Amino acid sequence: MAAKIALSRIPVGYRVWERLGLFKHGTMERPRYALGVFRKHFDRSGLTGCADGFSVVEIGPGDTLSTAVIAKALGGTRCWLVDADAFARPDAQPYRDLVDSLRESGLRVDGLEAFATRDELLAACGAAYLTRGVASLAEIPDASVDFIFSHAVLEHIPRHHFARLASEMRRILKPGRIASHAVDLKDHLGGYLNNLRFSERVWESDFMARSGFYTNRIRFSEMLGHFRNAGFDCEVVRTCRFTGLRPARTAMAKPFREMSDDDLLISDFEVVLR
Ligand SMILES: C[S@@+](CC[C@H](N)C(=O)[O-])C[C@H]1O[C@@H](n2cnc3c(N)ncnc32)[C@H](O)[C@@H]1O
Repeated sequence: MAAKIALSRIPVGYRVWERLGLFKHGTMERPRYALGVFRKHFDRSGLTGCADGFSVVEIGPGDTLSTAVIAKALGGTRCWLVDADAFARPDAQPYRDLVDSLRESGLRVDGLEAFATRDELLAACGAAYLTRGVASLAEIPDASVDFIFSHAVLEHIPRHHFARLASEMRRILKPGRIASHAVDLKDHLGGYLNNLRFSERVWESDFMARSGFYTNRIRFSEMLGHFRNAGFDCEVVRTCRFTGLRPARTAMAKPFREMSDDDLLISDFEVVLR
C-alpha cells in the first residue's frame, strides 16, 4: 500500500504506468479473454442469434474497447462503453489483433477490417466511449439497452455513486432484458480482506481513493440490496468463498466486524439482474 500510495503521486500519465505494468485496468486487450468474458455474460441474455440485433452497455471496459467489436461481430447494432476516464488504448493495434482473432474463431468481421484509427472502428461498430463514470449513464436514453454487463468493475464504483448506478441501469434497460455482473469482493492488495481494517473516514478519503487500490467494500448482501432497491430481481448464479477470515474479525473496522460470516466469506460472485 505504501508503495502504491507513493507511486500514484508521481505526475506521469496512466499510459506510462500501464506500459510498466504497475497500474493496469484489466486484460481486455487479450482477444481470448475479451471474447470469453463477453460470451459468459451474453449467453445469459437469451439474445444469441437475435435476428433484430441488440444494444449493449459495458461498464468499466478498462484498457481496450474490445466489447464494441465483439458485440458487432455477434450481431450488435449499438454499444456504449462507460468508464471513469479515457483509459483505453488509443492506437489501432489491439483492435487489428482482435479482428484477426475473431475471424479465426469463425465470427463475421466484414466491415470491420479496413480502419485507420480506433475511433473509425468504434464508429463502424455503432459504439460510443463515455468516460465520466456513473454520470455518463445519463447520456443513454430510457429503456434503450438490451444487455448490460460488467466484469471485475462494480467493486470499484465509488461507494457514494453505487445507488445511482443501480437506478441508472434500471432506467436504461429494456423491459424483459438482463444485466449480468461478475464482482470481485477481495481486497485489491493481496486478495484477502485487509481493506476492511480501515475506518470509513480513512478509506473513503480522497487520499486513499486516488491510490490505485480503491474498492468500495460494499459486501454481498448490501450490493444485492442496492439492486433490489432499484427494482431488480437478483439471481445469484455463482459464489466463491474464502476458506476463513483473514484478517480476523477483531482486526476489522466497524461495521465489518459485526457482519455475518456469510457476508464476509463471499469473495466473488456473479449475478443476473432482471
Ligand atoms: C479491474 S478493471 C476491469 C476491466 C475489464 N472489465 C476487464 O475485465 O479487464 C476495472 C475497471 O472499472 C473501471 N471503473 C472504475 N470506476 C468506475 C466508474 N465509476 N464507472 C465506470 N467504470 C469504472 C476502471 O476504470 C477499470 O476500467
